[in-house]
Parts: sequence; structure tokens; C-alpha cells
Amino acid sequence: MIVWVTGGAGFIGSSFLLRQVPRAPSWRFVNVDKLTYAANPRSLEAIATRDNYRLARVDICDFDALDRLAAEEPPDVIVHFAAESHVDRSILGPREFVRTNVEGTFHLLEIARKHWRPSLGADLRGRVFHHVSTDEVYGSLGDTGAFREDTRYDPSSPYSATKAASDHLVRAYARTYGLPTRVTNCSNNYGPRQFPEKLVPLMILHMLVRKPLPIYGKGANVRDWLFVDDHADAIWTVLERGVNGETYNVGGHNERTNLEVVDTLCALVAKHTGVSTEELLALKTFVADRPGHDLRYAIDASKIERELGWAPAETFETGMDKTVRWYLENQAWVASVQSGEYLKWIETNYGERG
Ligand code: NAD
Ligand code: DAU
Repeated sequence: MIVWVTGGAGFIGSSFLLRQVPRAPSWRFVNVDKLTYAANPRSLEAIATRDNYRLARVDICDFDALDRLAAEEPPDVIVHFAAESHVDRSILGPREFVRTNVEGTFHLLEIARKHWRPSLGADLRGRVFHHVSTDEVYGSLGDTGAFREDTRYDPSSPYSATKAASDHLVRAYARTYGLPTRVTNCSNNYGPRQFPEKLVPLMILHMLVRKPLPIYGKGANVRDWLFVDDHADAIWTVLERGVNGETYNVGGHNERTNLEVVDTLCALVAKHTGVSTEELLALKTFVADRPGHDLRYAIDASKIERELGWAPAETFETGMDKTVRWYLENQAWVASVQSGEYLKWIETNYGERG
């Protein structure tokens, strides 16, 4: 069984590979990754030399390159993580998001259609196109309620609009060509190996060098936080026990305002470094809000819990504690991503916000 894992050198893809490559030795995992700024092959050192793992540096926007790879490593399963994933970057420059998230997904669907021949009555047993998507496709909630699988799509940012478009393409290929597809829409992930443009690692790393902690607007926006390994396990559960054509929402039942998240991180960094919590809390700085900033996300994960028996293993407290400790103990990883590209991003994104 050959499984293509696109974007496997990114944050969630690397968690998925690090867990599954050793656990499923009869599967051959081909990591199809362009290695953008968000990828870090250092994250995959623990599995890099395993017999059932290979990194193929391929851009999913290059159909011919994908086609050549499919001739060499014909996929039975495609788990599609690869994307431009950062909302703020999509606001400053949407083009790359349309390219990778829409066109790239289209190319992978075309690979599956060409090689699996679903509409010609081919034997599709064991074949799955699993699309890893986001709860941001549903837009913003008010003070109450939670996203269900049948919630209407209403994306706010260029990022979430491209993810919505890719979800629609995946479902259209299922309906039109009979492609065996599954979609998961997940809430905010946090954990080891996340690129420090995202809230949690950005705050931890700023605390370590006593830089201001930039909080957009009033910090009252709510996200539903899930530890990354729990998301990786949810995807594996859907691959093993999910039903073709179905969508599963994945979330941690951990709604927190951004201020609550930052306060928690201040307390944890203080606990593990001996710096006073007050000194870290004093770094909080309110900056200009994100345009089109969704107020609140919350996931109703009852379908995957009830039908497939998945449940998160980490609580918000245990997961955040593990995350802070990982960043403190992995300074070499941190140094490897804090390149010129990272510093340039911090200057572009936060330079004007103060
Ligand atoms: P990430 O930005 O950390 O990693 C993205 C990976 O995709 C990188 O390894 C990058 O090199 C690769 N990639 C980007 N463009 C590519 C291209 N054109 N060709 C091949 N590879 C390319 O992202 P992440 O946070 O790990 O998210 C992975 C997936 O999960 C995305 O589809 C995202 O929309 C979805 N998701 C993320 C979250 C979250 O909280 N991070 C939550 C729900 C869903
Ligand atoms: O909900 C799932 C989504 O979660 C994924 O689809 C995206 O790929 C992922 O990036 C994440 O999107 P968010 O925009 O919610 O994550 P981010 O870490 O960028 O921001 C989380 C919240 O924190 C959000 O309300 C904006 C706020 N924020 C973010 C940054 C980077 C700040 O207040 N300050 C910051 O510096």
C-alpha cells in the first residue's frame, strides 16, 4: 500500500508521519512536499532513514512532476495536507494561496482520477483521497453554537476561501467521477514543530527574548484548540474506519479567547524558566486587528466521536504544557526556522500594526 502524504514536512503532516511511519510498516509513505518556508525536514529526522518512508520534493502545482511520481510510486491513498496555511499571509498576498490550495488540490484530484479511473468502473477498494481541511470554511460564529458538518460555508479570509474552494472540488470529484474521498474540517492545532508565525509558538518565542506579545484587536476572539497529535490520530482513524463521501469535523472542545491562551502561555513559560509571570504578562501589547477577523470558532465533533470512536487524548492544559516544554527543549529546531525569511515576515506583518 503506497500512501502519498502531501505537505508532510509541515506542522501537522510531520506529526502524522512521525506517528504513522513506525506504526504501519506495511505501508509505504511518500512525503510529497515542495519544502516551502513552512516546511522543516529537520522535523522528520526520526523517520528519514526508514525503509517505508521517502521524501519527494515536488510542487503540487506541477502536474507533470506529480504524474512522473505517480508512475514511480503509484498511490493507493492520498492524504492531502499541503497548503499555504497562514491567514495573515493570505491577506497580504493571496495569489500563492489560490495557486497551491485550489490549483494544487485540483492537480492531485486529477492524478487520482487518471490513475484510479473511478468513472470507468475500476476496483477502488483501499483507495482513498483524504482532504485535510479547516473549520475556517464555515466563517464566524456568534456567542453560541458550534460548527456541524452541515453548517453553511461562509469563509472570511482569502485562505479560508481557497480551502472552501478545494473542499468543493473534492466533493465534486466524488459526485461526478465517483472518486473515493473523505474530508476532515479541523479547528486550531497547536503543539511541537509549528512554524512561529502562528499564535502559540510566536508568543512562546517572543517571551523567551522579552519581545512584545502582539494581540490583535481586544484579544476577545475565540478559537477551539486541539493538540496536533490528536488531529493526526483523527485523520488516521478516518482513513481506517471512515466512510467514503463523508465529512468529519474534528475539534478539542477547548474554546479559549486569545487573551486566555496568551495568559496560559505566560504562566507556563514562567513555570518552566523561572522568569516571573508578571514580567511576561507585561509584554502583552494590543495591536491593529486582522481585517475580516472571525470572532469565534467552535467545533461539534460528535460525529467522529460517535461513529468512529475518536476522542482527543490531551486536554488544553496537558497539551499546552507539552508544547511549551518542546519549544524550550528544541532550540536548535527553533534556530533553524528563524531564518532571514522568518525575520522578514515579522517585519512585514507587525511593522505597521503597532
Ligand atoms: P504548514 O504551513 O505548517 O505546512 C504546509 C506544508 O505544505 C509545508 O510542508 C509546505 O512545504 C507544503 N507545501 C506548501 N505548498 C506546497 C506546494 N505547492 N507543493 C507541495 N507542498 C507544499 O501547514 P499545517 O498547519 O501543517 O496545515 C496542514 C493542513 O492542515 C493544511 O491543509 C491546513 O489548511 C490544514 N489545517 C491546519 C490547521 C492548523 O491549525 N494548522 C487546522 C485545520 C486544518
Ligand atoms: O481554525 C483552523 C485554522 O487555524 C487553520 O485552518 C489555519 O491554517 C491556522 O493557521 C489557524 O488559523 P488562525 O488564524 O485561527 O491561527 P493564528 O495562529 O494565525 O491566530 C489565532 C488567533 O490569534 C486569531 O484569532 C488571530 C490571533 N493572533 C494571531 C497572531 C499570529 C493574534 O492575536 N496575534 C498574533 O500575532
